[in-house]
Amino acid sequence: MSERRERYLEEMGLGPVWKLRRRVQEPEEPAERPIETPVAVKPAAPARKPQIPAPVPGLVGSAKLDLADDRAARILRMDWADLKATVKGCQACGLRKTCTQTVFGVGDEQADWLLVGEAPGAEEDARGEPFVGQAGRLLDSMLAAINLKRGDNVYICNVLKCRPPGNRNPEPFEVGQCSPHLLRQLELIKPKLILAMGRFAVQALLSTEASIASLRGRLHRYQGVPLIVTYHPAYLLRNLPDKAKAWEDLCFARRTIAAL
Ligand code: URA
Repeated sequence: MSERRERYLEEMGLGPVWKLRRRVQEPEEPAERPIETPVAVKPAAPARKPQIPAPVPGLVGSAKLDLADDRAARILRMDWADLKATVKGCQACGLRKTCTQTVFGVGDEQADWLLVGEAPGAEEDARGEPFVGQAGRLLDSMLAAINLKRGDNVYICNVLKCRPPGNRNPEPFEVGQCSPHLLRQLELIKPKLILAMGRFAVQALLSTEASIASLRGRLHRYQGVPLIVTYHPAYLLRNLPDKAKAWEDLCFARRTIAAL
């Protein structure tokens, strides 16, 4: 492992853990964790293609999105320029009144990787870019550890484009109003894989209340696109031992993309 990569893993809190947990796979290794198995670290298994379950109508995908609704239908026909302008001027929920600016998303608009978080925090609200605070720095380190970086084959955005006041949780109405923006971003990017980070991204994309722990380690789909569930970087900052699990998720995602 290069010194640089070791530094990234160290920053993710995986330095010593990584060395102790010999059975966790590095992305370059061909072993594939069988899908549908518990998330606990397992010995290396022979490489095989990930099995992507068929979409479950009504569950996977934006079940809360009313496509008969004119506004949603209009958004779903937009090009990038219209979509960006629409988000900028959006007043569909109350959040635009209290945030500084909208945070549309950042990165390669033809990326293979689409990373979805929850909503802008204070720093994102001030700078207009997602994941630029402490959680964002951790996310950048995690990406670097698998040789990725924002903007380069990676697109990062949030479920909500406006910061909820005081970083409170998104309300279902706000998620519903903002979902067409996210769906259109997805349609325009056409990623190979979505990484849903945290409870709200998972709820919005998979329409499920199930825990992150129960959803990790297998492939889901959103609008037909393979989706992997992982912890939110802000959660990882508060729950250091779970960084190792997030690392497993990233390795799983990398193997999945390589096998597609
Ligand atoms: N948390 C998120 O979910 N998104 C951000 O952009 C920043 C923090």
